[in-house]
Amino acid sequence: MTDTPNVKERDFWSGPIGQSWVTSQEEMDIQLAEVADLVMRHADPRPGQRVIDIGSGTGALSLLAANAVGSTGRVLTTDISEPLLSHASKRGQHLPQMRTFLGDAQIGDWPETDFDLAISRFGVMFFADPPAAFANIAKALKPGGSIVFAAWAPASRNPFWHIPAKHAVAHLGQPPKTEPDSPGPMGLSTMSLALERLRDSGLENVSGEEVTVHLRHTDGPHAFANLCTRMGAAKRILSHFDASPEDQHIIETQITAEFAPFAQPDGSTAIPAAINLLTATKPI
Ligand SMILES: C[S@@+](CC[C@H](N)C(=O)[O-])C[C@H]1O[C@@H](n2cnc3c(N)ncnc32)[C@H](O)[C@@H]1O
Repeated sequence: MTDTPNVKERDFWSGPIGQSWVTSQEEMDIQLAEVADLVMRHADPRPGQRVIDIGSGTGALSLLAANAVGSTGRVLTTDISEPLLSHASKRGQHLPQMRTFLGDAQIGDWPETDFDLAISRFGVMFFADPPAAFANIAKALKPGGSIVFAAWAPASRNPFWHIPAKHAVAHLGQPPKTEPDSPGPMGLSTMSLALERLRDSGLENVSGEEVTVHLRHTDGPHAFANLCTRMGAAKRILSHFDASPEDQHIIETQITAEFAPFAQPDGSTAIPAAINLLTATKPI
């Protein structure tokens, strides 16, 4: 890949965190299934349509879209991280309508255009220049084409973010604070700012809605807490402080205790999650 303004994100998602997403892919697909369903319900891709998935990661959303558009449609699965994209590619190799493109969505020179839909589950919050990135994504769409993106609403309304972060900070200390809405998981969490960034890119009919879904784990709160030390807020803090396995264990135990109310009668765990669902269209 040529030079990218998002080199830090590329390296982050191509390193150990990217590897964690690959090795935990089944667990993550279950965790985030309702967010994928939310995007699919609103995007509603039809047989024969052309869909581009932005920041596809291991490809869960692309696979759903590829099944929805069928053999007469097309899905372009795109990501900045080579290891994540190659995992997505392997998962989709039985679907000839699914192709991959490695590149930075902010500057990528799309190999195909005229898409009906651009979709993303948590792949569009990491851009150094969001309006430029959304304008570049719009270049892939046909006039009148739509975007449907899911991003995190503020951490304060997401126990999956604020509980692990609280315990990691209490045990290890506060890492350097980042500006609110700077590139990262919370990059589009302030709805008014997210909508402004989409409008600034030249998109039309921009709208957003905060929706509550559930993040799920087939196992109990301890398993969800363990996942939080491998991904997400606590993982970022553990990595920053180069925390020991003992630190990790202490933080995991504290998260487990606070996740207890989310345990389900069948032994699984369901944590409520607030998602910003963002939609817009490319001008005709
Ligand atoms: C939180 S993960 C979500 C992955 C996937 N959409 C899912 O829901 O499983 C964010 C993804 O965005 C990708 N990403 C980050 N910055 C990007 C950029 N500038 N262009 C394309 N992809 C990017 C990362 O490599 C990563 O795969």
